[in-house]
Amino acid sequence: MTTLATKWGLDESRFWLHGNTPDEIVWLDEASGLWNVHGHPETLAILEDPATYSSNTARLYAAEADVDFGDAFDGNPVQMDPPFHSKLRRLVNRAFTPKTVADLEPRIAALAHELLDAVAGDDRIELVSALAYQLPVIVIAELLGVPASERDMFKGWVEKIYDGDGEVSLNPTEEQRREIEEGLALAAKLRDYLRGHAEERRHTPREDLLTQLVEAEVDGQRLTTTEVATFANVLLLAGHITTTMLLGNTLLCLDAEPGVDARLRADRSLLPAVIEESLRYLTPISTLYRATMGDVEIAGQRIPKDRLIAVRIGAANRDERVFERPDMFDPDRSPNPHLGFGRGIHFCIGAPLARLEGRIALDILLERFPVLRVDEDNPPTFLPTADMTGVKTLTLLTR
Ligand code: HEM
Repeated sequence: MTTLATKWGLDESRFWLHGNTPDEIVWLDEASGLWNVHGHPETLAILEDPATYSSNTARLYAAEADVDFGDAFDGNPVQMDPPFHSKLRRLVNRAFTPKTVADLEPRIAALAHELLDAVAGDDRIELVSALAYQLPVIVIAELLGVPASERDMFKGWVEKIYDGDGEVSLNPTEEQRREIEEGLALAAKLRDYLRGHAEERRHTPREDLLTQLVEAEVDGQRLTTTEVATFANVLLLAGHITTTMLLGNTLLCLDAEPGVDARLRADRSLLPAVIEESLRYLTPISTLYRATMGDVEIAGQRIPKDRLIAVRIGAANRDERVFERPDMFDPDRSPNPHLGFGRGIHFCIGAPLARLEGRIALDILLERFPVLRVDEDNPPTFLPTADMTGVKTLTLLTR
């Protein structure tokens, strides 16, 4: 069977995309020093038990790989455990409400049309540069209140942050070490820039998410300026490249499944299910990391305390114990308990926004382009790290 991954040359490190299942559900990769877990129930057990499987992986990584992260992760929810994590999420929920997201619908649609106007009539479009990258980054920047005139500057920094191969290893090569250092320096620049804006909002509030984050209060407590800046930074980084991947991946899936494409074009109410299946089938963030807080046993395998686990949610989403015919793209799956947005206390804050952007952008694309086929002469390219699955470029023929 030629899988979509084989056809487009996605490398074998994303074994789950090639229909390969390792013999063991839990195994140690001697080269990287990482434990790997790839089963669905095992992954759920980890994500739903933050006391045993900590998100503060930078602590272990810094010690083992001898890297100094400085204050890079202070205030970053992705690296936090309860009780601080619970406090931060409660504060952020005050600012990032379902209404905040729902109110964005007309703006997202207007932006999608505006971006696509620029390529209307073209025989082929490169989806990422035309729409899939632009749309989410503009939405999140506008939401935060970052001035449009400064957008290109930070876009440049973000692109560089994602440029490296991004492989995690407790025995980093010199090249990987250099990439980490460059990434940290760029992230610090981005955070300083946002710190300036957050500071300014304290004195001059505006109608934006940065102001709401600065003003959010729970039990008389507010976020510090650094916490606001770090959080805004996480939103900027997590909030656009992921949705870019979702849009590109979904079009790849529709190209591979013309039957689904035809059904969807005839009945757009299928879109939410297509998006959920895309998140399962080509999971954008395919690996999460956790640190063991004690000796644990998973699927009969003992893992000692203070070890780093690579939780392969992309592979869990292809676990045949949970998903029938996991290598089929099937939007009729019901239920579809994919883990594309994670699970438990760290469940993606931006899931409603990502789903909304996905639905609006895909709907408008299908409406404006009766044909969208992958250009076989310009095959898609992919982000290099196996921790992510997503197109870097995707050229589509429009007739
Ligand atoms: C298709 C798009 C997206 C995917 C696949 C995705 C995936 C994920 C996953 C798997 C996690 C869990 C991390 C963990 O457990 O360690 C997560 C967390 C997070 N996501 Fe997303 N995400 C997407 C879009 C967004 C957007 C649009 C935003 C912001 C606007 C966002 C902001 C966040 C934040 C702040 C967290 C950290 C939550 C916490 O640690 O409590 N994400 N995301």
